[in-house]
Formats: sequence, C-alpha cells, structure tokens
Amino acid sequence: MLSSRIQHRGEGRGRMRIASLPRRLAGELKTLRNLVRHRAYIDPKSERSIVEAFHRLYYDAHLFGKTWRDTSWMGIPCAKCPLDLWVYQEIIFETRPDLIVETGTFNGGSALYLASVCDMVGAGRVLTIDVEARRGRPSHRRIQYLQGSSTSRDVIAEVREEARGAGRVMVLLDSDHSKDHVLEELRLYGPLVTPGNYLIVEDSNVNGHPVSPDFGPGPMEAIEQFLERNADFVVDESRQKFYLTFNPRGYLRKVKAERGS
Ligand SMILES: C[S@@+](CC[C@H](N)C(=O)[O-])C[C@H]1O[C@@H](n2cnc3c(N)ncnc32)[C@H](O)[C@@H]1O
Repeated sequence: MLSSRIQHRGEGRGRMRIASLPRRLAGELKTLRNLVRHRAYIDPKSERSIVEAFHRLYYDAHLFGKTWRDTSWMGIPCAKCPLDLWVYQEIIFETRPDLIVETGTFNGGSALYLASVCDMVGAGRVLTIDVEARRGRPSHRRIQYLQGSSTSRDVIAEVREEARGAGRVMVLLDSDHSKDHVLEELRLYGPLVTPGNYLIVEDSNVNGHPVSPDFGPGPMEAIEQFLERNADFVVDESRQKFYLTFNPRGYLRKVKAERGS
C-alpha cells in the first residue's frame, strides 16, 4: 500500500519518479523491519525456546488446577490440550474412521469429544478402555465403555473383535504412560489401525520433551523404539502445526498394511 501511494504521487512527473526510488526502497525496508519486529519471522532457535517455555508454563499450571486440569468438553473433564483436540477433529473429518479406540477413559471427556465430532461428521463410534470404573461418565449412543487393562488378553480379544467388523480404525493411547506399557500397546493396537488412519500416542511430552523431566522413560521413548521396527507408520509432523502439542512425534500415520494382514 505504501509503495502504491508513492507510485501514485510520482505519476506523470519524471523528476518525482526518479526521486521516489530511494523512498520506495526505504518504505520496503521499513515494512521488512516491521515484519521482523512483529514476529512474522523468528529464527528457529528462538522459536523453539519460546514454544518450549510456553509449553512448560501451560503444562505445569495443572499443579494449580489450571489449564488441562481445568478443561472440559460439554461439562465433562477432558485432560487434553485444546490445540490437540482441534487436530483430532481435523484428522477425524479427513480420515472418517468407523471405529475410534481409546485407551484411558478417565472421566470420559475425551471419549465424549470424539463421539461429538463423529456426530458432526455423521459416522464413527468410540470404544474406550479403562482399568478403573468411574461414576458420572457420559452416556452417548456412539460410546462403548470397556473395563480392564488395555494390554490384558480379554480386553485385546474384545477390541480385535470390534475392529474386525469395522472399516477404518483409528487408535489413541492415553492410559499408563510408562514406556513399557505404551510399547506393549503399540505392539497390540498398531496392527488394528487401517492404512491412512492414525495411531496417536499421547503425552509424549513427558520425560523432558519438554515437560516432567523426572518422569522416566515414557511415550516418546516407546515411539522411538516402536518405529525402529515398524515401517508401517510414519510420524506426521504436519499435525504439530499449532506449535504446542502434548503429543510431539505422537501423530503416527499408517502408510501401509501390516505384513500378513
Ligand atoms: C490420562 S488419563 C485419561 C484421560 C482421558 N483420555 C482424557 O483425555 O480425559 C489415564 C487413564 O488411564 C487409566 N489407566 C491406567 N492404566 C491403565 C491400563 N493398564 N489400562 C487401561 N487404562 C489404564 C487410568 O485409570 C486413567 O483413567
């Protein structure tokens, strides 16, 4: 706009047009300087440190009952970062899973969120698993609750049966976040995910990635080990587009069918 104003003033007057060139350059330089000043461009190192500082601030606030300890979906507590929930909505809309398996129900807020998105999309249902029973979990025609450990023989047999009858299958892992448990879940649930759909490993941010540095090996370490031997999945970093995610390297997209399936 600035450039066009200068050009307009110079129209039809040769001397003015020559004189306006340095002014135009100065104007462009000013625009560039403003872009940098207003953070349209930040060097990658500064960007990372800003995002990590905010990530720690946001995550640790749960110790005071804030942020993800004070997040709900339609009145039901939901222990998630809303930026991730928005990405889940985008994934569900794009990939149209018929069955969404969630390990770790807690109060049922995330299951209700997933079921609500399925309602809007007009397809899909949620099978959610927790080792504990809890009062007050929401009833919804698209939600089925299953009690037991996500890695127990009975539970996995039932989930396999449900997945067999479904078309497209998506899985979210949000139960016990220790590395061994997540790795076992990846081994058991990975084969159920259909090509083109997602296996989301939640809370890979713990153990210093960048929060809870004392957590010990967790989801991130399980993901890395799993990927060493599973070329069927790729990390879809495009799903980390909102800078802050509780699931860094946790958006796994299945790119091909498991051998033998
Ligand atoms: C982080 S919470 C789940 C939060 C929930 N998905 C949400 O976003 O609101 C973890 C849940 O995993 C459950 N859990 C722990 N170990 C488990 C296991 N081995 N199998 C299934 N659920 C388990 C806990 O009982 C707890 O309710």
